[in-house]
Amino acid sequence: MKMRFFLVACLAVFGILEVCQGGNLRKNFYGRSCPQAEQIVRTKIQQHVSARPNLPAKLIRMHFHDCFVRGCDGSVLLDSTATNTAEKDSIPNLSLSGFDVIDDIKEALEAKCPGIVSCADILTLATRDAFSVKFNKPVWEVLTGRRDGTVSISGEALANLPAPFFNFTQLKQSFASKKLTVHDLVVLSGVHTVGVGHCNLFSNRLFNFTGKGDQDPSLNPTYANLLKRKCKGPSDTTTTVEMDPNSSDSFDSNYYAILVQNKGLFQSDAALLTTKVSRNIVNELIKQDKFFTEFGQSMKRMGAIEVLTGSAGEIRRKCSVVNS
Ligand code: HEM
Ligand SMILES: *[C@@H]1O[C@H](CO)[C@@H](O)[C@H](O)[C@H]1NC(C)=O
Ligand SMILES: *[C@@H]1O[C@H](CO)[C@@H](O)[C@H](O)[C@H]1NC(C)=O
Ligand SMILES: *[C@@H]1O[C@H](CO)[C@@H](O)[C@H](O)[C@H]1NC(C)=O
Ligand SMILES: *[C@@H]1O[C@H](CO)[C@@H](O)[C@H](O)[C@H]1NC(C)=O
Repeated sequence: MKMRFFLVACLAVFGILEVCQGGNLRKNFYGRSCPQAEQIVRTKIQQHVSARPNLPAKLIRMHFHDCFVRGCDGSVLLDSTATNTAEKDSIPNLSLSGFDVIDDIKEALEAKCPGIVSCADILTLATRDAFSVKFNKPVWEVLTGRRDGTVSISGEALANLPAPFFNFTQLKQSFASKKLTVHDLVVLSGVHTVGVGHCNLFSNRLFNFTGKGDQDPSLNPTYANLLKRKCKGPSDTTTTVEMDPNSSDSFDSNYYAILVQNKGLFQSDAALLTTKVSRNIVNELIKQDKFFTEFGQSMKRMGAIEVLTGSAGEIRRKCSVVNS
């Protein structure tokens, strides 16, 4: 009701529907201003994915880190300056990579349509295309029209990104602060079916869970032993393991299948089994078709977090620095 009133009042003032829907992301935003934009992104991603098979995992995690800190505004792409430490150089940046790919796509787009396509949109499109190209099928729909922010602060990454040791309450709160639901939380966590994690981010579960040299009782003991053999000790910061063992190179619903066997890698994964509501969602998402459909919906919602549209922000010329 309130929303409807707002919409009518807003329309009376501005007369443009898109402005009044609280963010004017839409399909093919660059259809007129840069018709080849989406094709250029896709062609570039095709080249990069074949040289770098882990690119989908890298890009989707970067997109997530972008959206959770000041909204999807490309702030994760900005470099630190003499007077500011950027998100990129924060503690949770561990293993973020693929910045060079975004810069390369941006360069191609600037050559074709200077000043038109935002870095925030490039990251969103590139993420989708990396999945679509690598897994050889259409994935989720991406809306465009984001603009780029001008601020990137290291401390905000730490404050806004959920940590791997978060319990369910903390995860729920983190997602709620971005207007995402418990359903989104469980669905988006499913992308931990691809990619890797560093030992030091879960080794407390293996070696000294409560300070008594013990293991996390919610972790499958056989799996824990396997992880112990892979990680070199409690503070191994270099070894990585697949988050979805033996299946981390496929985009499927296997994350949920192993999660219910207590083989989720992080405490934040295991936490999804600790409430009835989230456990029910986990069980539903084991069905692969269901997971893919829901994942597309939740990605759309994540991709719309606090976006800058209309005349807010800017279109960066170079993704790593704000326009001067
Ligand atoms: C629910 C809260 C989440 C927590 C606590 C979390 C935490 C983590 C951690 C600690 C890692 C390992 C990083 C490393 O060791 O290098 C990781 C990896 C990853 N995360 Fe999440 N994550 C969460 C949600 C998400 C979401 C929403 C996405 C994307 C939609 C995502 C995508 C990924 C991907 C693809 C990787 C693998 C990266 C690689 O292989 O380099 N995560 N996550
Ligand atoms: C992460 O931050 C550290 C400094 O805290 C920096 O040395 C490192 O290069 C950053 N990593 C990436 C991928 O940006
Ligand atoms: C989750 O963690 C927070 C912060 O450590 C703590 O206050 C809270 O009691 C925990 N909640 C549950 C359900 O364990
Ligand atoms: C486990 O943690 C406790 C408390 O932090 C510490 O005193 C103990 O030395 C640790 N034990 C091992 C085996 O690391
Ligand atoms: C992965 O495959 C290897 C070799 O087949 C096997 O030894 C290992 O147990 C598997 N890992 C898991 C967690 O199932």
